[in-house]
Amino acid sequence: LQSTVIAPSILSANFAKLGEEVDNVLKAGADWVHFDVMDNHYVPNLTIGPLVCEALRKHGVTAPIDVHLMVDPVDRIVPDFAKAGASTISFHPEASLHVHRTIQLIKSHGCGAGLVLNPATPIEVLDWVLEDLDLVLLMSVNPGFGGQSFIPSALDKLRRVRERIDNSGRAIRLEIDGGVKADNIAEIAAAGADTFVAGSAIFNAPGADQHGYDEIVRRMK
Ligand code: DX5
Ligand code: ZN
Repeated sequence: LQSTVIAPSILSANFAKLGEEVDNVLKAGADWVHFDVMDNHYVPNLTIGPLVCEALRKHGVTAPIDVHLMVDPVDRIVPDFAKAGASTISFHPEASLHVHRTIQLIKSHGCGAGLVLNPATPIEVLDWVLEDLDLVLLMSVNPGFGGQSFIPSALDKLRRVRERIDNSGRAIRLEIDGGVKADNIAEIAAAGADTFVAGSAIFNAPGADQHGYDEIVRRMK
């Protein structure tokens, strides 16, 4: 397992020059591209779909694209994202009637499968599916928007899920999403996360518009 993954959320990128933005964060040392899909139904916001994922692949992006589906229902969009070049596909259990089935669906299309837990979703939702997952994504904000503050209870949740993953003996990534900044990433890592989504902290970093993303990605690492 690659030890630390920085996954910039392109939700905070400049969509008018998305290809360039993604090239620049990857050149700065980011590992994955975090791709937030919102449907104005599961969450009160509307973003991007498979066409944009495919466009990034055609543009030449070879890094893993980490698709975070905030859509309900989830199953019918999974094949489209697999075809569009998604590497991992994560979904919220509240948006699937059959969580185990959705996990198998994602894997049958050749993608890594992730389950996303909202701040108030109990970790017991992992009980019978953890071993089937490639990734657990803990939300440290309520999904829907970039730029919110990290909810502190996520640290304890991280520790508990870390213990479960370690006990499983499997190579399951533990990803955190929401309010991750250069000045709290160390304590988030200490709580057990190995994969860090950061949107506003990277794309809105002071000076990034003139000097690029090297400095902020380096600081986070
Ligand atoms: C929120 C999204 C996040 C968001 C994070 O629903 O899932 O990925 O872009 O943004 P920041 O890092 O600004 O909290
Ligand atoms: Zn996300």
